[in-house]
Amino acid sequence: MNIVLVGTQWGDEGKGKIIDLLSEDANIIVRYQGGNNAGHTVMIGDEEFILHLIPSGILRSSKECVIGNGVVVDPKALLEEIQMLRGKKIDIGPHNLHISKSANVIMPYHKLTERLKEEETIGRIGTTRRGIGPAYLDKAGRVGVRMVDLLSKTQLAWKLKRHLDEINLILQKVYGEEGLSYEQLMEEYLKYGRELKDYIKDTASLLNCAIKKNKNILFEGAQGTMLDVDHGTYPFVTSSNTTAGGACTGAGVGPTKIDEVVGVMKAYTTRVGEGPFPTEVKGEMADKLRNAGPVGEYGRSTGRPRRCGWLDMVVVRRSVLINGIDFLAITRLDILDDLDKIYICNKYKYKNTYIYDFPEELEILQDCVPVYEEMKGWEIPTPEIRDFEKLPEKAKEYIARIEELAGVKIGILSIGPKRSQTIRREKVSTAKK
Ligand code: IMO
Ligand code: MG
Repeated sequence: MNIVLVGTQWGDEGKGKIIDLLSEDANIIVRYQGGNNAGHTVMIGDEEFILHLIPSGILRSSKECVIGNGVVVDPKALLEEIQMLRGKKIDIGPHNLHISKSANVIMPYHKLTERLKEEETIGRIGTTRRGIGPAYLDKAGRVGVRMVDLLSKTQLAWKLKRHLDEINLILQKVYGEEGLSYEQLMEEYLKYGRELKDYIKDTASLLNCAIKKNKNILFEGAQGTMLDVDHGTYPFVTSSNTTAGGACTGAGVGPTKIDEVVGVMKAYTTRVGEGPFPTEVKGEMADKLRNAGPVGEYGRSTGRPRRCGWLDMVVVRRSVLINGIDFLAITRLDILDDLDKIYICNKYKYKNTYIYDFPEELEILQDCVPVYEEMKGWEIPTPEIRDFEKLPEKAKEYIARIEELAGVKIGILSIGPKRSQTIRREKVSTAKK
């Protein structure tokens, strides 16, 4: 059984925890897009792990992990993450981590040009400044360096020579910065190549071979649907296809091989960085959502406070549609435990009409006012509940309303960061059906 897991909002939906749960039944866990802009948090016992680039499955022994061709890899960040995990006694090496030869490499000039662009106030996106956008720009522009190039002096030299002059001209003439040294880049990146040599493989073959052998594969999406470069709130998005289709192109696995798509949604909404967010709330209510529960709403990659707001079902419904979601997993339900009133947005008011489908025009979105349904809060702590039937009635009503508005079932509920703080209603697992 091959499952794709995606975020249904603007990222930070709690994908790390759900991936960790589902990876129990998976043999291989695959990252297929994005890079170390992601921050996937997994709690094992009392220990918290934050993964940026390596699939969260690495935390379970006997699992294999793949960084697919659709990912952009910063080799320095990757080596640091490997070291960090080894420091925490996680077994990690070329036997359980495979990196696609075709994955594009994030180079120092990607991070540099992104920083310079983000320092301008016009058109700022509020990126994670990991060089993600410029790396994908070079990939699509056919001037990128791929992981396999780090293993060949002649290939790397050819690619760098072809591109670095232009990059340096931009750095010097547009930004008044110094250019980067070809020799230093060659030396540094060939060194990464030597260190990562045994990890770099044909991962598309590896995955298709595993599929033939009936292994279970879990595709770990990063970011969220509203950050998808095609389907999100463009241009305030990331530069990859975060939606389910991205798993096929980003891993080299055909759509016929995907059995199920799971969408992760938070019980409310958050967003980091710039861009539209119709149900955003400010002031006291935002602070309350941001600081409730054991882990607050602060970015795992950059430490930035997240913008917070009510659940937007126009967004989730769009995600169900674009991703073909079979089941939803809802996270951070416990954060709503203290509230006496909870709001769900099911439509936007735009001029004199109501909009139920997420508009693609930023201009329309800007003028949309969310229309809320008010629900009574349950005001009972949920973190110790393990049985769906034992949830407070009002919490069950909230869940039922979400299912009704989304048109799909919620199979997993999370009421705290720990593995045990989970309620599973329907069998959503990679175990063979
Ligand atoms: P996970 O996987 C939340 C946001 C950034 C910015 C925009 C573009 O943990 O859910 P980028 O650096 O990707 O070019 O930034 O996307 N962003 C995320 N927001 N969670 C993430 O990942 C994100 N990755 C990128 O804040 O608005
Ligand atoms: Mg995150």
